[in-house]
Amino acid sequence: MATPIELFIEEMQKLFQPDEVYIMDGSQEEAEKLANIAQKSKVDGKIVLEKLNEKEYPNSYYHRSNTNDVARTEHLTFVCTPSKTEAGPNNNWMDPVEAKEKMMGFFKGAMKGRTMYVIPFVMGPPKSKYAKNCIQVTDSVYVALSMRIMARVGKQAVERIGSSSDFFRGVHSIGDVNPDRRFIMHFPQENLVMSFGSGYGGNALLGKKCYSLRIGSYLGYQEGWLAEHMIIIGVEVPDGKVIYFLGAFPSACGKTNLALLEPVLKGYKVWTLGDDIAWINVGEDGRLYAINPEAGFFGVAPGTGLKTNPIMIKTLKNDKFFPTLFTNTAVDNSDNTPWWEGASDEIPSDLTNWQGQKYDKNLDKAAAHPNSRFTVSIYNCPTLSPEYNNPKGVPISGIIFGGRRKDTIPLVYEAKDWNSGVFTASIIGSETTAASSGQVGNVRRDPMAMLPFCGYNMGEYFQHWINIGKKVKKLPKIFMVNWFRKDENGKFMWPGFRDNSRIIKWMIYRIEGKTGAKESEIGLFPEENAIDLSGLDIKKETMEKLLKVDKQDWKREVAMIEEFYAKFGDKIPRDLRKHLTELKKKLGL
Ligand code: GDP
Ligand code: PGA
Ligand code: MN
Ligand code: MN
Repeated sequence: MATPIELFIEEMQKLFQPDEVYIMDGSQEEAEKLANIAQKSKVDGKIVLEKLNEKEYPNSYYHRSNTNDVARTEHLTFVCTPSKTEAGPNNNWMDPVEAKEKMMGFFKGAMKGRTMYVIPFVMGPPKSKYAKNCIQVTDSVYVALSMRIMARVGKQAVERIGSSSDFFRGVHSIGDVNPDRRFIMHFPQENLVMSFGSGYGGNALLGKKCYSLRIGSYLGYQEGWLAEHMIIIGVEVPDGKVIYFLGAFPSACGKTNLALLEPVLKGYKVWTLGDDIAWINVGEDGRLYAINPEAGFFGVAPGTGLKTNPIMIKTLKNDKFFPTLFTNTAVDNSDNTPWWEGASDEIPSDLTNWQGQKYDKNLDKAAAHPNSRFTVSIYNCPTLSPEYNNPKGVPISGIIFGGRRKDTIPLVYEAKDWNSGVFTASIIGSETTAASSGQVGNVRRDPMAMLPFCGYNMGEYFQHWINIGKKVKKLPKIFMVNWFRKDENGKFMWPGFRDNSRIIKWMIYRIEGKTGAKESEIGLFPEENAIDLSGLDIKKETMEKLLKVDKQDWKREVAMIEEFYAKFGDKIPRDLRKHLTELKKKLGL
């Protein structure tokens, strides 16, 4: 009798009518074969992959996407639950029957003349009880190779699934890369995602945002755990102890950089476990434990340089895992290497821009697309934590939330307790970035950095966070940071990047009870001189500004929070409303 996997493949074959079906085994030989195919195939008139300089960037390939397909498209992303309330005002909703009908129309015969790649993969360490089994089909060799980097692809997934029908089904076709025929449809109740018309990471690598966050958050809600848009790091302190943190920042707001941080402070070291997604469970000892469901980094290229993120440069130049992909960066023709703003101080003289034309500094805003990305295995990362594959995950002592704000939000503060922390995270606002299509720089509410990724009603999600807190015996401390505050001249006031280790050190001192804190209207602040600024040239008055609560700014902020909360009506937990009322009182509003 056919297994559920075989039945699924058969069903997909009938639907898509590909010329060939290829089932991936995850081997290196297979990846080399696919890279060769990609170097000979064209999508949308463009060669899919081009080999880059082997000496400078071993195992690396360049991919240029359609210019209309460079970021997640939130307006074309839907959560298709039986009722609209289940999806919540935070999601676009479509009736599941209608959504499927629409997608079937696009899918029918869409792979004629193409190969259908079947990708079995596991999200999470295969030996972990928290890991999940998945299968995606796609007609994009770029997506197939990217999935190999981002997830644990191969036979182990098939073995884990066996004769069970309990696995995530991801159905993807790049179609004709036309935004008018592009949809990313989630069916949480059916453990299913259908995606058409885009090859972009967040839209097409269905194990990532679609499964590990949108479907994952729904599963977590059902099963009593959390799927979060968070990095996982272990911070080694001078006495050798390692303290584990989670960190949530909206897309393109600093997660990957913090995950691979090389501290400026002597004796400190950051061990990397994840740069984008964490699955968090309450462990047997009553503490929170986190695993990274992913196996690679899909990181923002611009801004990545030897000064800002030396570990990532080493990761990208490592030859351990095949392949590494660069998408929509520029290319330096003098030596066939990828280039982006911030890769070097000087702009190379002979650049091809991300659109494939000769770069002209008078015409082009930037040579690389602001959301140009690299896709690289986590095994290339020299700071990969030895705990990365620990089936239990790592015990969490601190959770850092953040956003990109030129004003209002101080450099760092701490929430008094768990529920205050949930409140603080629920009111995060952040300036929109190039990671999602649309205008850049508008402040929008992005609670827990999950606005685009929470697969159910966010009011219920807040309550779920509060409920998880009740189950945990030793709760992590919750912090809020903002690396992006600017001065009157539009310059960042805080050096950021490697200097962020100074703020982490303060957090560790707080966790270990080694330093006190000052009360303020919004939370607990560092005491005078409590942040280690040794060797840093920063004015006292700059630090004061960075740590200031401006009542006028907060008045505007509170108005935005109230507007956001209002969308959820009585779904907002009572305790969070109470916190908001208290905040207003403290601010004299
Ligand atoms: P992610 O998308 O959340 O993983 O964010 P990244 O770590 O990739 O960073 C997104 C952008 O913000 C990149 O251009 C980085 O160079 C920049 N960035 C990251 N951390 C900092 C920081 O501490 N300060 C400043 N000024 N920029 C940063
Ligand atoms: P990141 O992930 O920007 O958070 O790294 C990709 C995305 O959110 O689109
Ligand atoms: Mn992300
Ligand atoms: Mn990232």
